[in-house]
Amino acid sequence: MSNPSHRVIIDCDPGHDDMAAILLAAWHDSIQVEAITTVCGNASLDNTTNNALRIVAAFGLDIPVYRGAVQPLLHRYEFPAAFHGPSGLDSVGVDLPQTDRQAEKGHAVDAIIRIVDANPGEITVVVIGPMTNLALVLALRPDLATKIKQIVFMGGSAGEGNVTPAAEFNIWADAEAARIVFRSGVKLVMFGLNATHQTLLRRQDVAAVRAARPDANVVADIMDFYCGTYYRFAGADKPGAPLHDPCTIAYLIDPSLFAMAQLPGDVIVGDAETYGQTLIDLRPQDPAHDQRVKNVGVAMQADAPRFAALVTEALIWATGRISA
Ligand code: RIB
Ligand code: CA
Repeated sequence: MSNPSHRVIIDCDPGHDDMAAILLAAWHDSIQVEAITTVCGNASLDNTTNNALRIVAAFGLDIPVYRGAVQPLLHRYEFPAAFHGPSGLDSVGVDLPQTDRQAEKGHAVDAIIRIVDANPGEITVVVIGPMTNLALVLALRPDLATKIKQIVFMGGSAGEGNVTPAAEFNIWADAEAARIVFRSGVKLVMFGLNATHQTLLRRQDVAAVRAARPDANVVADIMDFYCGTYYRFAGADKPGAPLHDPCTIAYLIDPSLFAMAQLPGDVIVGDAETYGQTLIDLRPQDPAHDQRVKNVGVAMQADAPRFAALVTEALIWATGRISA
């Protein structure tokens, strides 16, 4: 790809919305995906890596996949199979085929270090799962904090949680890792639940994806599984399901989709019920006297209809990429 606007590494735990984010990035010519790195998150590392390999193989994506952290730095938890299924990428019908595509040799942490080292200031790390890999990168090579262009991540919230009242899953799964990233000094762009709960994949969007390939439609079947689990928890009357991870890629493609605020942010660790909460300081301040370090760009508002149209176009494109 000649002269893309963004050269990215996608660090992920596929994951239904991770798959949508990968397809959105692969579809848009402003994004060049240098590598996909996987992490334990929605499911085991074996499953998230197998899912990433099935995605790149099924949709014919020439993107290397590297296996990352097997477990969080400290936190241990049960995988959220109720949301993503035991495989981490369950479908209501047609499934992505198994593949003999293999992950690259070498660990994801080493791959991120190598790619960033070779391209100082050029690489955006998109994190759409727990931040374990990135924390390890920063622990092994703190100097890379000045070489990573930016970290654009789905995680946390400037309001409600999902896995607990206080915490969002990606941050909660490895809050210690997230605190390392929040305190790293790297430019941070955050898509928390306060924004991603605005960005729905609506019923009409899934219907449009299905209409693009009325016979066997693996994209529609996988997204229907994801939306269906949301409707089971949130109510069958809902117009759509929040599509979290693609917000990161949509922002890179068209920043005007989101209204952002530069704010102080940190991550709560320890043993209290607030474990994994992102503490975003929304208190109004007098700019003339505001000495706070505003380390995070936080998405506050989303243009939901334009987001849905962008993601739906990419998912429709993807239906045509699957060999019959
Ligand atoms: O809380 C939403 C996040 O948790 C998304 O990244 C989803 O894939 C799950 O990992
Ligand atoms: Ca994810």
